Amino acid sequence: MSSSPPASLAAPAADGAAADRAVQREVQRRRTFAIISHPDAGKTTLTEKLLLYSGSIAEAGAVRGRKTQRAVTSDWMAMERERGISITSTVLTFEYGGLQINLLDTPGHNDFSEDTYRTLTAADCAVMVIDAAKGIEAQTKKLFKICSARRIPILTFVNKMDRPGCDPLNTLSEISQVLGIEAVPWNWPIGTGRDFKGVYDRQTKQALVFQAVSHGIDRSPVDIVDLNDPPERILSPELAAQVRDEVELIDHAGGAFDKQRFLAGEITPVFFGSALTNFGVEPFFDGFLKLAPTPRPRLSNLGAIPPDRTEFAGVIFKIQANLDPRHHDRVAYLRVCAGRFTRDMEIVHTRTGERIRIKRSQRLFAKERETMDVAYAGDVVGLVIPGQFRLGDTLTEGEPLQFEGQWQFSPECFGTLRCADTGRRKQFDKGLAQLVEEGAIQLLREPVSMSPEPVLAAVGQLQFEVVQYRLESEYNAKTTLHRLPFRIARWVTGDPADVAELRVPSLGRQLQDQDGIPVVLFESEGMLRYCRELNPNLTFSEVSPTATRNF
Ligand code: G4P
Repeated sequence: MSSSPPASLAAPAADGAAADRAVQREVQRRRTFAIISHPDAGKTTLTEKLLLYSGSIAEAGAVRGRKTQRAVTSDWMAMERERGISITSTVLTFEYGGLQINLLDTPGHNDFSEDTYRTLTAADCAVMVIDAAKGIEAQTKKLFKICSARRIPILTFVNKMDRPGCDPLNTLSEISQVLGIEAVPWNWPIGTGRDFKGVYDRQTKQALVFQAVSHGIDRSPVDIVDLNDPPERILSPELAAQVRDEVELIDHAGGAFDKQRFLAGEITPVFFGSALTNFGVEPFFDGFLKLAPTPRPRLSNLGAIPPDRTEFAGVIFKIQANLDPRHHDRVAYLRVCAGRFTRDMEIVHTRTGERIRIKRSQRLFAKERETMDVAYAGDVVGLVIPGQFRLGDTLTEGEPLQFEGQWQFSPECFGTLRCADTGRRKQFDKGLAQLVEEGAIQLLREPVSMSPEPVLAAVGQLQFEVVQYRLESEYNAKTTLHRLPFRIARWVTGDPADVAELRVPSLGRQLQDQDGIPVVLFESEGMLRYCRELNPNLTFSEVSPTATRNF
């Protein structure tokens, strides 16, 4: 499914100039993106179709009733299958149209936005999937904000055009009004609901009319017709006339597409379709191949690092334990940001200053893995190394540097976790330590007594459930959780003498994080304000000072 690079590219170049050209050529071929959407908008279905159309899978698995027996290639954890939600981010790598596509699959559920945020930092562009009937939903809005803050280009796919109640003009104005980005239709739907037949391509001025295939398992045959003179058996004259009128209207009303503005994140090209029936899916992928940008320069403490420089540099954006329960190992996901990574090369780990050799680098395709000997800017490499990396760590060849990024978010849910069977205490501690390292949950402890019951801090409630589930299924450690009433956490920094004198109101609770930094939990904003007044010389931050590295 994932193809290895041709041997000629994997071989080291004979001289520096040739190496540069090889790096540049390979970087130009890379497209690394993530799909953002509200749960149920159709992200999984669209991903499957992308794999189907690229030839990576022979047939789409959508017809097997995903909610009960989820058979989607990118969803693999048992809990995901049981609940029909996508929790972990997986990387899908495949060739399409001569390009190497790296699709960073992001969890759709609200509680996992923290993981999603981190994944978005590794993407060069995003595809926003909107349910045509429902319009812009809460999670889409949240994720859009992150992309917009990073100014990453966004392509929009308005899905489920086969459902009744779609109004494409309404969707366009909603995108502009709610998200504040100009929406420019790249194509236009031919009919909606039961009458949805395909799309009119505004660039080529051709109408693409699709034929239904059973459950959208296979690619849908398409007829290309002239909207002014369509064969009646393919497209009714009435529908053709209606689309001509609508296209005339948007030609007059809508702004023109401008690639530079798209790359700057100011406008989004909008594609219409139905991932389920395949109608409009291939034109969207063709548009994606034309528009999706190559890897972008990344900001670091040494300034912007160009992706096509020869020397390697990359950042760890995700850590995951027990990716495959048979292996029981930990994978750190490295986004290659510059140059060429080769297995066994000597690299510098900026945070520790250590020189290391990576012996186990892997390409990941959902559950499958294969050794990855070479990777270029834009690629994601799975590094199988126990306990060496943290989120946000930068690895480089040559001069050490640190890429910017935010790796942790302020928790809003808290609870104490107890190991139900004292005989499994060791497994419980080990499992918890690994899940913390992954960034799946944050762990806070009493500063002095080091109480055996750690306080778990999460961005969303479901994160607790996942941690309990994983502790039980992967470490055989049953747990009980007791929710705490706090809603706010603040990391406290300042002069050590002032920190030592920290005064916490009686309804607050002082703990410390993994790095020993004091954290205070509050039930309300009012309590936090009061605590600030009690400690005017201290700073109360939403995240740990070690979790954000901005320059
Ligand atoms: P998600 O990953 O964004 O959460 O969405 P997913 O693809 O799982 O799709 C959510 C539901 O919407 C699924 O139905 C899926 O079949 C349906 N769907 C996706 N694209 C389209 C489309 O273009 N048109 C229509 N009409 N439906 C679409 P489900 O009943 O929840 O699951 P299943 O039983 O069909 O597998």
